[in-house]
Amino acid sequence: MTTTDDRPGPTPSRRALLPFLPMAGHTSGKRSPMTCHLKCGDACAQPVPNTTDNPYFRDVVDAALSRRAVLAGAVVAGAAVAIAPVLGDATPAVAHGPGGGPRGRLGFTPIAPVPAATDAFTVPAGYQWRPLVRWGDPLLSSRDRFDPATVTPEVAERLFGYNCDYVDVLEDRDGRSGVLVVNHEYTNENIMFPPATTPEELDRQRRVAMASHGLSVVGLYRERKGKPWTYKVGARANRRITASTPFTFSGPAAGSALLRTVADPAGTTPRGTLNNCAGGTTPWGTVLSGEENVNQYFRTAGTSAADKRYGFADKATTRGWEDVDPRFDARNPGYENEPHRFGWIVEVDPEDPTAPPVKHTALGRFKHEGANVIVGRSGHVAAYMGDDERFDYLYKFVSKDRYREGRRHRDANKRLLTAGNLYVARFLGDSPVSEITGTGALPSDGAFDGTGQWIPLVLDGVSQVPGFTTEEVLVFTRLAADAVGATKMDRPEDVEPNPVTGRVYVACTNNTDRGAAGKEGATEPNPRVTNRNGHVVELTESSNDPRSTTFGWSILLLCGDPATTTGTYFAGFPPEKVSPISCPDNVAFDSSGNLWISTDGQPGTIGYCDGLFKVPLEGRERGRVQQFLAVPRGAETCGPVVRDRDEMVYVAVQHPGEDGTWAAQQSYFPDYVAPGSLSAGRWGGPRPSVVQVYRP
Ligand code: FEO
Ligand code: CA
Ligand code: CA
Ligand code: CA
Repeated sequence: MTTTDDRPGPTPSRRALLPFLPMAGHTSGKRSPMTCHLKCGDACAQPVPNTTDNPYFRDVVDAALSRRAVLAGAVVAGAAVAIAPVLGDATPAVAHGPGGGPRGRLGFTPIAPVPAATDAFTVPAGYQWRPLVRWGDPLLSSRDRFDPATVTPEVAERLFGYNCDYVDVLEDRDGRSGVLVVNHEYTNENIMFPPATTPEELDRQRRVAMASHGLSVVGLYRERKGKPWTYKVGARANRRITASTPFTFSGPAAGSALLRTVADPAGTTPRGTLNNCAGGTTPWGTVLSGEENVNQYFRTAGTSAADKRYGFADKATTRGWEDVDPRFDARNPGYENEPHRFGWIVEVDPEDPTAPPVKHTALGRFKHEGANVIVGRSGHVAAYMGDDERFDYLYKFVSKDRYREGRRHRDANKRLLTAGNLYVARFLGDSPVSEITGTGALPSDGAFDGTGQWIPLVLDGVSQVPGFTTEEVLVFTRLAADAVGATKMDRPEDVEPNPVTGRVYVACTNNTDRGAAGKEGATEPNPRVTNRNGHVVELTESSNDPRSTTFGWSILLLCGDPATTTGTYFAGFPPEKVSPISCPDNVAFDSSGNLWISTDGQPGTIGYCDGLFKVPLEGRERGRVQQFLAVPRGAETCGPVVRDRDEMVYVAVQHPGEDGTWAAQQSYFPDYVAPGSLSAGRWGGPRPSVVQVYRP
């Protein structure tokens, strides 16, 4: 039996949009048109920006690269983060779900798939859920009032932002206090605000939207481990980072002429962060965040090869920020390089609320989904990164210096991502091309698998790409990777090393253009044409050394609903015994090394609400996908954090009810109060929130 919140919220069907938010008019593959429009700038409706003809290399397998030659044993350093206790209570008291179900180490009976129109947060029997913090909750002062119809930009800078994505909870040693760090990827103006009828109101909404992007850092406390957290208004750690916050550039391209503007002639201090999607927490206790679809925020000349490759164009943006701040129109003299100052991995130190966050140029510039760091036996760290666009690439950064354990080395560790080597991946399949049919049918050797190479783009600060300076490689990384023959992947999103085994998992969320006319067809690492449901690749570095320049790989999952999708594969586990799963996006691991996957797009592919899924990776259970929770109507599941020792799970519920309007909302999560009402801090419309799931 599963439990849901079944208090009915009205589910209006009328679709209407604000006059200044034109409908995109497409649903390319998986998402609602509104998500495509506001999250990605209609990325899938644009021509595929990777127009290179670099081929897919199906090559002879070098025995030295064989997966059998790969050894086990990479090491992940633990992140013990000391945080002062905090006091107070600001978390809304809402809990749901009866008891029952298996106990211990996050045991659960998988929930049934939840039909896509269901406006409920669904957890397994024996668990309850509670929002930890919601869009609009005050972080700095309880006097700051949440009212989306009237809130000022100045107050919005002090409230929890919109559309939470990456999440982590950094706990102190006794687990009673901690810090929550959250990305706010984008804004859904159509459901956040009433239609603007005056220029002044339009200006307010645009500035509030800017203030609702970025990240939040939030102090937490609780009674003891395993109990739900409460967040603390005014905690020392509390911080908002927005589209206006000062940053610093690090690494070889800092100060480059390519990064200078009239407002920052030194090219060292960019302002703001945008479209912060996934991320990763470093072994030294900081948080990395990926700036993803940043092109949609800028109007540019749109004529250069780089503009085209990154999707920048000479057209008015949907959000119209170029009418509010001249830096969002790169045609303005002095702001030509402003778009170059976005599309980076940023690092935030939650222990230092006043330190400017850093944009790391050494990790390259593309549509960064996120970055996840592992420490190898040598002490060098590797950061794995996906460029989330159809036919784009997988990257790795390896530090020049070594990680050192201990708080006294923290400042040095915070410099590890400023110097090192940047690589892009080339995958080599080991089966004949004729056996890669595009259907998902396994080749005769029984696996989509092979070896791969990390092709250097920058080694020790020096460009390895003919015709590119180091600064050009780092600012125009996509162009540099095109030039060296990287492998086109099906939208690589989260890429994360398993802290137990060192193996790396790549979520390729989907690519409906795979095999379309004029596009690359099926390849062994991307073996299905019209790939609506996505897949997960398991990658093993040679000698399990993150510094390695070669790797082995195999496909772990070909996602879909086995009952309706052809060509699914679950690491050999019987398909009839798994939960249907589609569009893998974020990945995480529990303390035993089981993989957990959150999804983005199931309503448009297999007809179910998005969710969170557990996948064992070892033994007889390997590949057994089991659904743990489902998020409400219109939402994607993000930022999973799985703490099985506490029996706690955290997820971000992003864009609930995204296809609604101010007047006709489609979700009432998580407050579930009357439409349009605002009372006692509860709002009769959807509020993106971080949710904690726990044993009562
Ligand atoms: Fe923001 Fe690639 O998801
Ligand atoms: Ca094979
Ligand atoms: Ca994502
Ligand atoms: Ca992750």
